Amino acid sequence: MLAMRAIAALAVGAAMMFESWAFVMPHQDPTDTLILVNKTNRAPVVPVTLVKPNVTPTREALSENIYMQPEAAAALEELFQGALEDGITLYATSGFRSYSTQKAIFDRKLETMSEKAANASVAKPGYSEHQTGLAMDVEGLSSLGSGLVEDFGETPEGIWLAEHCHEYGFILRYPKDRTDITGYIYEPWHIRYVGREAAAEIHELDITFEEYILMVRGDRVKFLEEGGKTTDEPNS
Ligand code: DAL
Ligand code: ZN
Repeated sequence: MLAMRAIAALAVGAAMMFESWAFVMPHQDPTDTLILVNKTNRAPVVPVTLVKPNVTPTREALSENIYMQPEAAAALEELFQGALEDGITLYATSGFRSYSTQKAIFDRKLETMSEKAANASVAKPGYSEHQTGLAMDVEGLSSLGSGLVEDFGETPEGIWLAEHCHEYGFILRYPKDRTDITGYIYEPWHIRYVGREAAAEIHELDITFEEYILMVRGDRVKFLEEGGKTTDEPNS
């Protein structure tokens, strides 16, 4: 673990040298559970297999919004069951999103806030992790009806999720006070499937997914200068 911490520190150092977390991962496999999708790495446009996990949606109307890749869906079912065994009831709000769904969500945000504020909370179409089928937004019984809000992190369900989701292969993708790295505000409801090994390491090291990818795949990254090009694939 000490060696891992040293490698993590080196990766962070490399990023700081460029004074930016803007880097691209060329040629990512759309089915890779460690695929990085963020402000500089587009979601792949190649279709992936999606299934509906056998979990309860937050509202019946959302039941068609919770599809995930099969491995992530199976892990989500285990996570919801594990939570239930600890007296915690979770609901699924938003899983896979198409480009057009993400665009509709982003455009709706723009109606109520500036582009800068919208950019900090919703990914631009083409750049959302939800487009991979590996992410899920989750709500809990005690705050049902409140929507996806920061206070979820203080509820029993939010606390349980932060403490246990790694046991099922998920990470809290947008942790508190890491906006400078992830580019997004704290989202205690957004979990991302990365597989159990990666999730355990990320949890143990208390690092973001960006730092983890630099740590394990740093040899493949290409840092971007200010205003540099992102991975440029056609939109779906
Ligand atoms: N809220 C996250 C960043 C998304 O829109 O994908
Ligand atoms: Zn989300």
